[in-house]
Amino acid sequence: MKVKKAVIPAAGLGTRFLPATKAQPKEMLPIIDTPSIQYVVEEAVRAGIEDILIITGRGKRSIEDHFDRSVELESFLESKGKFDELKQVRQISDMAMIHYIRQGDPLGLGHAVAVAEPHVGDEPFAVLLGDDLISASTPLLEGMLKIHERYGRSVIAVQEVSRDEISLYGSIQPEFVEENLARVVSIVEKPEPDDAPSNLAAIGRYVFTPEIFDALRETKPGRGGEIQLTDAINLLAQEQAVYAYLFEDGRYDVGNKLDYLKATVEIAIERDDVGPEFRLWLADLVQRKKLL
Ligand code: UTP
Repeated sequence: MKVKKAVIPAAGLGTRFLPATKAQPKEMLPIIDTPSIQYVVEEAVRAGIEDILIITGRGKRSIEDHFDRSVELESFLESKGKFDELKQVRQISDMAMIHYIRQGDPLGLGHAVAVAEPHVGDEPFAVLLGDDLISASTPLLEGMLKIHERYGRSVIAVQEVSRDEISLYGSIQPEFVEENLARVVSIVEKPEPDDAPSNLAAIGRYVFTPEIFDALRETKPGRGGEIQLTDAINLLAQEQAVYAYLFEDGRYDVGNKLDYLKATVEIAIERDDVGPEFRLWLADLVQRKKLL
């Protein structure tokens, strides 16, 4: 069955990015001039998904406003003859059919996905974390959707990380079936490096069969007292095959300050408008500060 819907959980509190996230959602922090959640929506649209559900919560209104029409702004831009800007602003609201559900309390990523059930129904669907950016040149979601079409099962994206970093992620025990595809034997949330089954970390892209909702219903609060998506995936993997799709680079966790900086620099040097001047400035900075 073709995947037609995507869920973007964006109800977290963003405590790693305080104070910026005290009064604004971390998903709205811009990478140059575009809020990170817009890159995520664009990624889903590029993969052919146009029905998008964003899980929001208190203090996240600006996400809804961003994807809505802005009649005053549009008529202002039109009256000033700023037609390029007008086109850009309209494209944001025309890009996809975006729906919203509020999570109520941020009880964990698993809980955020569970509240999507009435919208998703009995269909496979994709989940894209609102603070994980995948470079536009990495067709990760497209690759995962192909695996889902081939096997009809859930697929999670995994990336190799260092032993020290694995305790920040869900770590899988893989059983490789192809070079970059493994069956998930088990998955554990944020293990101590010595207890991690591998250094393959689940990152924020998933394609699920609807049975994940049954698994979520059975999932008790886990690490940090939150309903962990990882624990539900582990339950699901015991019932039906779950695949892990291994990819190499082009991912930034922009909820983390260092990755946010890296994403900003990398996207900036590739942009046609600011890129050429920024590259020269950066090269000069590296020399001046003797960074190399
Ligand atoms: P994170 O753990 O990265 O988000 O969750 P957080 O809790 O906002 O961030 P920190 O750790 O406090 O800085 C991954 C994704 O899951 C969403 C977040 O919005 C983020 O996109 N999430 C998390 C929810 O939607 N609901 C939750 O209850 C928890």
